[in-house]
Amino acid sequence: MPTPHIEAQKGEIAERVLLPGDPLRAKFIAENFLENAKQFNSVRGMLGFTGSYKGEKVSVMGTGMGIPSISIYAHELIAEYGAKKLIRVGTAGSLNANVKIRDLVIAQAAATTSSIVRNDYPQFDLPMMADFGLLDRAYHTAEKLGMTSHVGGVLSSDLFYGDIDQLALGKLGFQAVEMEAAGLYYLGAKHQVATLAIMTISDSLVTGEETTSEERQATFTDMMQVGLETLLDER
Ligand code: HPA
Repeated sequence: MPTPHIEAQKGEIAERVLLPGDPLRAKFIAENFLENAKQFNSVRGMLGFTGSYKGEKVSVMGTGMGIPSISIYAHELIAEYGAKKLIRVGTAGSLNANVKIRDLVIAQAAATTSSIVRNDYPQFDLPMMADFGLLDRAYHTAEKLGMTSHVGGVLSSDLFYGDIDQLALGKLGFQAVEMEAAGLYYLGAKHQVATLAIMTISDSLVTGEETTSEERQATFTDMMQVGLETLLDER
């Protein structure tokens, strides 16, 4: 049963999966938010754990950075292990003056510089969209927790160090740039499972501000709460 990148046996991974980019964040979540967490993966250091959250079986696994990396893990989790609800939790850079550092961005849709969708469907300009049930629940959970959140478009860029004018999308109302959401949403569409990406703003391309690692840890903890509560969605 193990796949090329995940050494778990069938049944060791939950249908509900939280996906931070950093595998050490996956470990942090397992240790601080899940009960009876058991590690199911260490291949390539991409740590994955399954435990329970409010009585529900939940898994958490790192994805690495960028669409190629998250696509490998999300594909195997969905196609081989039966994951049905997958939520990316990460950081993003603000493209819009309204979106401040430490705010939460819930990606309703993701544009991308990647060719993943174009390769398969060259005849369409397809929007990559979040699952509405997860989106709705994340928004209301963030509101209940008193977090400032924005629902809208993000750019999933292939390059962290690129030269394209990403702020042009800010002028179209796009909120932030990150590197994975469109890949996850495409796989959700392809396999008809629910996907969502939520990100805290770690830096602003508009003002040049950056968060400290302590601030990132604090906002990350709030976001975890949103991610885990949203995974409990019954729809
Ligand atoms: N670009 C891409 N991904 C990011 C950024 C950024 O500026 N900030 C956090 N993730």
